[in-house]
Amino acid sequence: MKNEYLPYKAIIKSIQKESFDTNTYKVVFSDEKIRNSFDYKQGQFAEVSILGIGEAPISITSSPTRKGYLEFTIRGAGCLTKKIHQLNVGDSLYVRGPYGNAFPYEEIKGKNIYFIAGGIGLPPLRSLINIIMDNREEFGNVKILYGAKTPDELCFKQELEMWKKIPNTEVWLTVDKSYGDWKHNVGVVTELWKKTDVCSKNAVAFVCGPPIMIKFVVMKLIESGFKNKDIIMTLERYMKCGIGKCGHCNVGEKFVCVDGPVFTYEEIGKIPAKERAI
Ligand SMILES: Cc1cc2nc3c(=O)[nH]c(=O)nc-3n(C[C@H](O)[C@H](O)[C@H](O)COP(=O)(O)OP(=O)(O)OC[C@H]3O[C@@H](n4cnc5c(N)ncnc54)[C@H](O)[C@@H]3O)c2cc1C
Ligand code: FES
Repeated sequence: MKNEYLPYKAIIKSIQKESFDTNTYKVVFSDEKIRNSFDYKQGQFAEVSILGIGEAPISITSSPTRKGYLEFTIRGAGCLTKKIHQLNVGDSLYVRGPYGNAFPYEEIKGKNIYFIAGGIGLPPLRSLINIIMDNREEFGNVKILYGAKTPDELCFKQELEMWKKIPNTEVWLTVDKSYGDWKHNVGVVTELWKKTDVCSKNAVAFVCGPPIMIKFVVMKLIESGFKNKDIIMTLERYMKCGIGKCGHCNVGEKFVCVDGPVFTYEEIGKIPAKERAI
């Protein structure tokens, strides 16, 4: 019988510094069988651990279309993640999963897609962005609206440059505080509505970021004509097991680890306001 709590060893192959407190880790399972059989979908997460230190849910930011490795973008927030930041290429992590539901993919083919992210909200969306980029002709226009506190806190700076060169793809950036040779917008992410047309016709919007940002972005999307079912987001909650057993992650009647982390705003609307944090 498979032990659902058993993590597998993965070796760090590269570390990309995203900002002062966030790195992207490319890891490869040391067991070839696990490497070949670890199938995941866009939007799922894994429980990442260092033995004897702890374990945390982390979104899989790599795309399932790019095989043989996984990528995690990790902010040094606490006990485990600060220890991960002390690891080097060649060191190992442990990974179990994949867990949770996924962003819709087949259902959004042919649609115009909006990605609206704040800070470390871009990593959970990147998996879906890159599958779409790998199958670009199957989708309508793609617009990425991304904000961070400062230019240095934007994740995936090189990829943002690459994505905007892809036909029918736009990338709009904003920061709360600019410096240096920053050429993009200054202000909160909803101010990007003044820079580009956000149109709900045949469109779906994926939103990820801090709760306060999600709240204002959802209001703007609804003003722009989006229906609640076409606004899709991920929820973060404190998790332990990741597999629906411990009850740590419930919101209303849902467990974020198995019913989520991806929810439509229509589903979130059914959760009591004091429990949903947005
Ligand atoms: C589905 C999902 C996906 C995620 N994806 C990512 C990701 O891609 N990248 C990423 O960096 N993070 C991600 N997270 C968040 C990450 O799992 C947490 O930040 C995790 O707590 C980090 O573990 P840690 O041991 O390093 O930090 P912890 O020691 O848990 O501390 C993290 C922060 O939370 C505070 N804290 C700790 N316990 C509590 C508590 N009980 N109540 C209130 N505050 C508390 C601490 O003071 C600290 O500021 C995700 C979370 C979920 C649920
Ligand atoms: S983390 Fe245990 S039930 Fe969700």
